[in-house]
Formats: sequence, structure tokens, C-alpha cells
Amino acid sequence: MALRVGILTSGGDCQGLNPAMRGVAKALYEADASNEIIGFLNGYEGLMTGRSKKMRETDFSGILTRGGTILGTSRQPFKLMKEPLDANHPEGPSKLEAMIDTYRTQSLDALVILGGNGTHKTAHLLSENGLNVVTLPKTIDNDLWGTERTFGFQSAVDIATQVIDGIHSTATSHGRVFIIEIMGHKAGWMTLEAGIAGGADVILIPEIPYDPLYILKALNRRESKHKRFSIIAIAEGAKTIAEAALGKSELESKRKASCHPSVAYELAETLDSMMVQEVRCTVPGHFQRGGEPCAFDRVLTTRLGVAAANAVMNGHFGCMMAIRHDKVEPMPLADIAGRLKYVPLDHELIQVARQTGISFGDAD
Ligand code: F6P
Repeated sequence: MALRVGILTSGGDCQGLNPAMRGVAKALYEADASNEIIGFLNGYEGLMTGRSKKMRETDFSGILTRGGTILGTSRQPFKLMKEPLDANHPEGPSKLEAMIDTYRTQSLDALVILGGNGTHKTAHLLSENGLNVVTLPKTIDNDLWGTERTFGFQSAVDIATQVIDGIHSTATSHGRVFIIEIMGHKAGWMTLEAGIAGGADVILIPEIPYDPLYILKALNRRESKHKRFSIIAIAEGAKTIAEAALGKSELESKRKASCHPSVAYELAETLDSMMVQEVRCTVPGHFQRGGEPCAFDRVLTTRLGVAAANAVMNGHFGCMMAIRHDKVEPMPLADIAGRLKYVPLDHELIQVARQTGISFGDAD
């Protein structure tokens, strides 16, 4: 029997969304040419408002190598899902009710949702409310619980590494300290991998609070070995030991009140006041989420997309297609929603980094 499947991409974009949708679509159309796919525009917003389009097979052609998402995306906070869809009509349906209504009026058999942490909380809510949901793990942060890898991560790490590589020549020529800020507010996976791959001397991640004095010592050690420059890779969510002792809202207020646009600039000012060497910052920002998906992500998304299509065709719902022991496995949404995957402090890469002389700013 032909299936009618909705699909949407939600949250921050990244490399790999298009090839993942292509994987889902190809497997569905190959299995039964009369299967139908409805694309919802701009993430959950499209599901709330019904803004959608019936996809053609050709819509999924030529997108294996395209960054971004052909459906558009938006951030729709989970905590607002029970709020009215239209703030001017509080008596009307909530966002959640509107999404359920669209699913029913579109006569969908299933909904495939591509997204990160926030997206999974809402996907779980939809699943709890009786919708047939299958999800795919998207985020450059690699911080989704239940999967070893998320797609977008490797492509973003490759870009962040290229940025560090590119900075090396100026750092060497001028004998400067460069601070490169890498995306990741809560987890330091990207900074850890790009830092190691790019040969950073100091890596600062949210999981390991730092003391600028230890960084200074690491930089001085390099100078004493006649190294002309140093590279610091800092995650955008890195914290000093003093900041880590603050509550969430206290830290947020401190950051808001800061005259610095981001943590890299704050650290630059601190270090600048303590050393003779010039300190500079580079913040590649959303550049890390752009451009083509790398070969690894193209393969990963194709595997995950096909697995999502199989789950839909087999009637296996309420799960995310995850990578576990390098195999694709379904993980229950109930286990994933609301949980983050941080870098464990005993992770092999932290050990490897320390043994190759990289400082995390937490010890001599
Ligand atoms: O979650 C992906 C991510 O790129 C984070 O690394 C970053 O902190 C955040 O999104 C940026 O969000 P926005 O695109 O909304 O500025």
C-alpha cells in the first residue's frame, strides 16, 4: 500500500540535511513509485501552519552535494509548543494542536523529522501524542544523546580545521597568539576534534573549565622552547573556573553584560594584559555550518536516510536512527529527548591531546 510521508528539517541548518532527505526519498520511491512525500516548509512552522508542498522525485535530484536545506528551517522553542499558535487568538489551537491537526488533515502515514536537541524534544512530544514519527540526528555539535555521530559534525570539523590551518601562517609570521572560536555552546566535540586536527596548543571546551593562568603557563612554556606562535581553540561555550561556579542565569547575565562579543575576545583581553606577545581572535561562526557536506557526511546521511525510510515502511515509529558501534540502530525518542551528549572527561581524545602536550587550561 502506498504511503504518504511528511518530512521537515528543524533547528539550525548544517551540511547533510539535503543528502539525508535524498536518502529517505530515494528509498521510498524505489520501494514503491506511488509513495508520496509532503515537504513542510521552515521546520515545525510549516507543520503548524500547513505550509507544505507535494514533493516530486526530481526535487531530490542534485542535492547530495548541496549544503543548507531545500525545505528551509526555523527554530521553534520546545517550551512554547503548548502556547497558542496565534498570540492574538489565545482561544485558538496551541502550536502542538495545530501540528497534530495538519498531520491528520494531510492524512499522513508518518513524519520524518531531521534535527538536533530542541527538535527531538518536540518530535518526542508529537510521538507521545500519537503521530508516527521517525527522526534523524542532525547537528554540527555532535551532542545528541544516543548516537555516536550526528551528521553535519564531520563537515563542520573539516571547515574549523581548515580555519586553524589557515591561521598558522600569520601566527608564525608575526609570532602571535591566535584564539580561534569554534561553534558549540554546550559540548566541546567540534573544538576537541578540530583542535587536535589543526594542531592547536590549547583547547578550551565547556566540559573542562579553565584558568587563564594555566593558559599563560602553557604559552610561556612554548616561548621558552623558542616556538614563535601559539594557537588556542576555544569553544563558544567554554567557561573559566570562576564562571563554572555560577548558576545558569548568573552566567547568562554576566555574558549579556560583557562588553565582548564572545568568549574568544574576552580571553584575548585577559591574555593581552598578561603577556608581551600580540593576541588576535578569529571567529568563523556560521561559516562552519555552510558549504558542501564532506564525503563522510554524504555516506552517513545516505545510510541514515535509507534506515528512516525502512523504519517508516516497517511501521517502526517513535525512534531516532542512530549510529551505535558504527551500525545504524533505532533509539527510542523517550531515551533521547532532553538529554545531551557531553565530552566525557575520560574520553580517549582528551588523553591523547594531553599526551601530545595540548593544554586544556585546567592544570600545569
Ligand atoms: O546547534 C548548532 C549551532 O551551530 C551551535 O553550534 C551554535 O551555538 C548555534 O547553533 C548557533 O545558532 P544560530 O544559528 O541560531 O545562531
